[in-house]
Amino acid sequence: MHCSRALLTTSCTHALEISALLGHLKPGDEVIVPSFTFVSTASAFALFGAKPVFVDSTESTLNIDPRLIEQAITPKTRAICVVHYGGVACEMEPILKLAEKHGLVVIEDNAHGLFAKYKGRYLGTFGAMATQSFHETKNITCGEGGALLINDSTLVERAEILREKGTNRTKFLRGQVDKYTWVDIGSSWVLSDLLAAILWGQLQRAEEINARRVMIWNQYHSQLAAWAHHHGIQLPVVPEGCEHVGHVYHMRFATAEQRSRFIDHMRRRDISCVFHYQPLHTSPVGQHFGGRVGQCPVAEHAGDCLVRLPLYNNLSKSEQDRVIEAVQQFDF
Ligand SMILES: Cc1ncc(COP(=O)(O)O)c(C=O)c1O
Repeated sequence: MHCSRALLTTSCTHALEISALLGHLKPGDEVIVPSFTFVSTASAFALFGAKPVFVDSTESTLNIDPRLIEQAITPKTRAICVVHYGGVACEMEPILKLAEKHGLVVIEDNAHGLFAKYKGRYLGTFGAMATQSFHETKNITCGEGGALLINDSTLVERAEILREKGTNRTKFLRGQVDKYTWVDIGSSWVLSDLLAAILWGQLQRAEEINARRVMIWNQYHSQLAAWAHHHGIQLPVVPEGCEHVGHVYHMRFATAEQRSRFIDHMRRRDISCVFHYQPLHTSPVGQHFGGRVGQCPVAEHAGDCLVRLPLYNNLSKSEQDRVIEAVQQFDF
């Protein structure tokens, strides 16, 4: 995987914050983001005064819908931040074309998709910048951590400074200057050596970890296909050309009520199934930025009706069989 520079950071959120500074985002600017994502995808830009503009997802992958992006672009738009949900790639060609047409910076929030690919090319190598998460919930982890991948080489020097409290300490450590000093704004966003050492061990085993997760993912997918079809449950869709890394396995029920009963059903069998993102446009801050109920129906439905099945590196075959059996016993 090649990029101009990969800088380890204290989190993906902090890497997104650096990307906001590198994009010179400021009050009055707008950034297009999906509504169905983690808070940081929007809050990192709002922190510097930019307004997140929420766009709905495609029904199949839950990724930002490229067909809805252009109508969200205004003269104030500066950037598009995409999220490859579950490590399944967004449709990057139309997104990159739109960005070029309107002179926008593309940032990939690739928190879920390290080493996943789109048409043979690694996610995180399409935008000017991309961010990774090594939070405990991710495939490759050091507890809390992240990275900023920089593909536009003109951004590297300032990124190093922003991450080092606004100093040129990185140059000093490379022996390029004889002392370091305050040269720009910045903050303390460098991952600690101790966490980096844990991360190194994980990265060395990344192929094995991802292969194991993909195996578990595939097992759910094949074992639940007939059941899901029969009951009208939506399983994840992986379009042609996308190679994911088995980050999440999710299912979408028809109604929120069905989902609640399902989670209870699993809990009674000592199996924890959780949901996650609540659409950002209907959150209190999202509404402050102009979001309103009904604006992103796909995100709203996913927020109400999506549930994740247990998926972690050491989930054993017998544990997974028990989960699958319990799912199939759910009484509609
Ligand atoms: C899509 C997305 N972006 C950003 C983040 C934030 O990652 P971190 O906890 O490393 O800041 C997450 C965390 O789950 C995420 O799912």
